[in-house]
Amino acid sequence: MWDFFETVRHRHSIRQYQPDMPVEPEKISAVIEMACAAPSAGGLQAYQIYAIQKPELRQKITNACTDIACLGNAPVVLCFCSHPKRASERFGERGRNLYALQDATIAAAYAQLAAVSVGLGSNWVGDFDEGAVRVALEVPEDCRPIALISMGYPAEIPAQTARRPIREILHSL
Ligand SMILES: Cc1cc2nc3c(=O)[nH]c(=O)nc-3n(C[C@H](O)[C@H](O)[C@H](O)COP(=O)(O)O)c2cc1C
Repeated sequence: MWDFFETVRHRHSIRQYQPDMPVEPEKISAVIEMACAAPSAGGLQAYQIYAIQKPELRQKITNACTDIACLGNAPVVLCFCSHPKRASERFGERGRNLYALQDATIAAAYAQLAAVSVGLGSNWVGDFDEGAVRVALEVPEDCRPIALISMGYPAEIPAQTARRPIREILHSL
């Protein structure tokens, strides 16, 4: 296992996966467990996670993406849905409009790091037709699909992506 810094540095978006290497169920469970270990507003975990492995559902999800290549041939796709109603019951409008989205986003980010830690690759796909994903997965009206995370054993060496200089981002006061 890598330490945290190595794990973060080794996370790159993977868009091609080994076709003959399914992901072990215990690895999927470990990734979900780490996603659920993320912080959430009031500890409410205002999200739902769908773990999709059935080929016909993966195809429907792929078709819902603007770029149908971006999920690659991933054997597993996690769909993170925010649950605004759950957050709003305690936190009102701020829970509905902000915390539920943040909860789901952080959980998805943790899932990507956990995937690295168990030797998997992943990609975050945000550019998809929410309605089509909702129908395919039967996501209820009070949840919103916000991120698809493809996951599997990498079949590509990912390109290094640049980062903005920290001095452009950080305001040390
Ligand atoms: C909110 C969000 C939306 C994204 N949407 C897509 C997408 O629709 N398709 C895609 O291939 N990658 C998508 N990505 C992945 C980014 O392109 C990628 O993280 C970025 O280029 C940096 O590369 P790296 O992940 O390898 O560091 C998304 C990432 C985030 C965080």
